[in-house]
Formats: sequence, C-alpha cells, structure tokens
Amino acid sequence: MKLVAPESRTILGTLCVFLLLFVAISSYADDLTGNWVARDPQPDGTSRDTYLDLKQTGSRITGHLRVSQFYYNIVESTGGPDTFTLTGTMIDGHNERQVKYEVKRVGDELHISTRRRPDSELVEMVAHRAPAGEGALPARLPLPALHDVPDNGLARTPPMGWNSWNKFAGRVDDAAVRAMADAMVSNGMKAVGYEYVNIDDTWQGHRDAQGNIIPNKKFPDMKGLADYVHSKGLKIGIYSSPGPNTCAGYEGSYGHEEQDANTYALWGIDYLKYDWCGARNIYADEDMQAVYQKMGDALLKTGRPIAYSLCQYGRYDVWKWGAKVGGNTWRTTGDIRDTWESMTKIGFAQDELAPFARPGHWNDPDMLEIGNGGMTEDEYKVHMTLWAMLAAPLLAGNDLRDMSPAILAILINRDVIAIDQDKEGKQGRRVSKSGDQEVWARPLSGGEEAVALFNRGSQGAEMTVRWSELGLKSAPVHVRDLWSHSELNLPDPQFVRTVPAHGVVFLRIGN
Ligand code: GLA
Repeated sequence: MKLVAPESRTILGTLCVFLLLFVAISSYADDLTGNWVARDPQPDGTSRDTYLDLKQTGSRITGHLRVSQFYYNIVESTGGPDTFTLTGTMIDGHNERQVKYEVKRVGDELHISTRRRPDSELVEMVAHRAPAGEGALPARLPLPALHDVPDNGLARTPPMGWNSWNKFAGRVDDAAVRAMADAMVSNGMKAVGYEYVNIDDTWQGHRDAQGNIIPNKKFPDMKGLADYVHSKGLKIGIYSSPGPNTCAGYEGSYGHEEQDANTYALWGIDYLKYDWCGARNIYADEDMQAVYQKMGDALLKTGRPIAYSLCQYGRYDVWKWGAKVGGNTWRTTGDIRDTWESMTKIGFAQDELAPFARPGHWNDPDMLEIGNGGMTEDEYKVHMTLWAMLAAPLLAGNDLRDMSPAILAILINRDVIAIDQDKEGKQGRRVSKSGDQEVWARPLSGGEEAVALFNRGSQGAEMTVRWSELGLKSAPVHVRDLWSHSELNLPDPQFVRTVPAHGVVFLRIGN
C-alpha cells in the first residue's frame, strides 16, 4: 500500500472539495436563468404569450412573469433543483392579484401549470428559451407638458350608438359589425339617433415593419368595413389603449400614438375609446392627464373629426380634466355587468358628478346592458331612464339582430331619448331619497324639466312628489308620462303614483 504524504492529502482534500463544489454548481449551471416564452396561438392569428424572465441563484428564482398585459414580480420561489413553485404579484401596486406557477425543467423546456384565478381550471403550457428582452416591460416614455387640447366640436349631445363589448367581447368580427349596422338601420334605431357602431377590444393583430397596426384575421379590411358602415349613414368607432397592451391583451398604442391616430383617420374611423388597462404597468395615475392628452392631440392633428372616449374607470377625478385632454366622454366607474345590482350601483352613484357634464364633454357611467337578458323589462326601463337623466352616452350593448319588441321599444323610446339628448346638456340630480325610493330631476332647455320616480325596492311603492320640491309654485300645465306616452292632467299640488318594484315613472313637465 502506498502511503500518501500529508501535504498530498491536503491537496487531495482540497481537490475533492472543489469537485463537490463543481458538481453542485454544474447541477445548476444549466439553470433556469434567462428569458422563456410559452406561446398560445389564437384563432384570430394573434398569440397570447406568457414570458418568464428568470434569474436562478442556487435554488432561488427571482425575476418577472408576464401574461399578456399582466406583469408580475416573482416574490417567492420554492422547490428545486428542477421543479419550482413561483409566486408573482402584480407590478402596478394597485392590484392584489397573485399568480402561482408550477415550473418543471424538462430538457430545454419548462413545463408550466397554473390557474388564471384560484378557482379556475388548470392551464398547462410549455415554454422555450426566448431572446433576452423579448416581452419585457418597455421603458417609460417621456410625457408632454400639460396644455388644453382644443375642443374638437363633437358630441354636442351625448354620443349614441352600439358597442361590441357587452355582448360579443372577443367574438366581435367584421361580419358582426356589418350586421349591427344593418340592424340599426332596419330596426329604427338609426331613425331615433343611434349613430356610432363601435368595435371594442380584440380587433388588433400585429405591427408591420414600419410599426403600423394591422388588424387580426377577424377584420380583414378595416377601411372596407368603415366604408360599409358609412354607406349606411352611420359612423364607426374603434378601441385602443395608451399602454403596450389592451385589457384583453391585444396590441396597444404605446409609443405609436400619432401613427395609430393617422391609421384610424386613413381607415375612416369616427370614434376612439382609449382604455387605460395596459398603461398601468408603466404610468401612475398622476400621469393620466398627460397620457390622454397625447392621444387627444394626435386625434386632432389628423384633421378628421374623431370623437374621443376616455376609459380609465373614473380614476384620478377624470371629470376634472377629461375635457382638457380633448375628451368627449370619460368613464366614471368600473365595468357594468348585466345585473340590477351592478347597474343601480353605478347609476345611482353619479349624482355629484352632474356639474362636470356639458355639451361636448360627458360623464360616462358605461354602456347599456339593455336586452342582454340579466334584468327584467322594468329594470331595463330604470337603466334607460337613469342613463337619460345622467345625460350619459347611449351605447347599446346587445345583439341588435335579436331582441324582443319590448326591448327594442325601450331602446328607441323617443321621449326618453329626447331627455338624454336635451341640448342644454345639464345632467340630472337626486332631489330626494327615502328608503328605496328616489326622485331625480333634470333641467331641460326651454324651462322644462324631467322628473324620475325610481323605486329600487323589491315591492311596489306609492311615491309622492310635491311640485314645490322641484321649485315649482303650482302644478305644471303639461305633464307627459314618458313610458306610457300619455299626457296627464294633474291639477293637484303633488303627484302620487304607485311605482312597481325595481321600476320607474318618468315625467316631462313644463308650462
Ligand atoms: C375594460 C373596459 C371595458 C372593455 C374591456 C375590453 O374592461 O372597461 O369597457 O372595453 O376593457 O377589454
């Protein structure tokens, strides 16, 4: 047996330690560090991509996750060396939303499983290496100094039309838009003032080499579609976001504001809804005015009259600066749903915003749900009445080809539309509230007034309005019931009526 000298033993020991270290490191050498993407091709030709920009240090993973418009910081990683659970929280600081990814390294692939929401089904995907930086949050662009964008002269009364989102969401396509334009003409909506046919989110495809936005497969010829809508005597609207992505994860206008405005003008677009969503990853609420001003200027610069609809859910007191950025309407709330709770929660919360509405510039409590099936006819009458009292945009959100005569009658009630479209543009306000019963009044041009008796309760209720409450000295000479289309003779000092559960009585009064 050969004896090893003590100094050689030390060298051997050191070598062993190095070997062990090498083995330990090399098991992580081919680690997860780098950029990965899992692509999910969609039938419209776009791809919903999930990026994982990872840095592995030992068994710890840090970095970012991006699921289309949602960006997350990885705040926790457990497991290893080949299987990890990554927890990400939203980057924008406003949203509590968290994601959890189970990530398994299999050769040069990452096999991922996750749930979009805690209660939704498991989604599985496979990610491959992607070039560094691809899919990363773009750098913040400098913002213009604030100034007042000149009034575009549009929307002297609240815009009326149709929007695709509430009924069609991601299923809107060229054929649906043409069909809605046809229906709007044939069912009498056009005749009572509905005018805009608005495409909401999910029309966008990719940008070409020059950065021009190209629609996805659902919209093969946007100019042709605009020409078609115009040929019906109607106008056409489109949708984008000041962020890199829209709410549904499609291409936004970030860094392409003027270019997109010019494209819209070239196509013949008449209306833009500009939805904050993807911008929240880059900008703070305090930046909103400058961000919206940028597109307001860009639209004006095209020389084409394009109505400008701000959609940022009423954040940062938009009613105080919406008109300054050239906005014709600004959303005052989160998204409406087709329920009595959602509609009334939004509609009855608008009272204090009344002073901000005026010709050219309107509060927008979101689009109509009338005819989508989630409310009763009485409830939809409350919806229509309340929106008319609020001088709100009247953008139908149902399938215009397919509605009952009763629903159509609600949408095309000329008496109610005349209140919404009153040219003085003064928004109505709450006069009184007692339990579930509320009386609202709206001053109209020519000294007339609209008065709505709302019963939010689940039982019919007798309601009384004293004319003196409305500042009148005596009973008005003319009282018209706007849902029964009848003239009432009311000499009494007060008006008493049983209002159905979740119902309304709507009057136009004058002398
Ligand atoms: C947001 C808006 C909606 C609609 C969707 C589309 O939620 O508030 O009105 O435009 O985005 O993704």
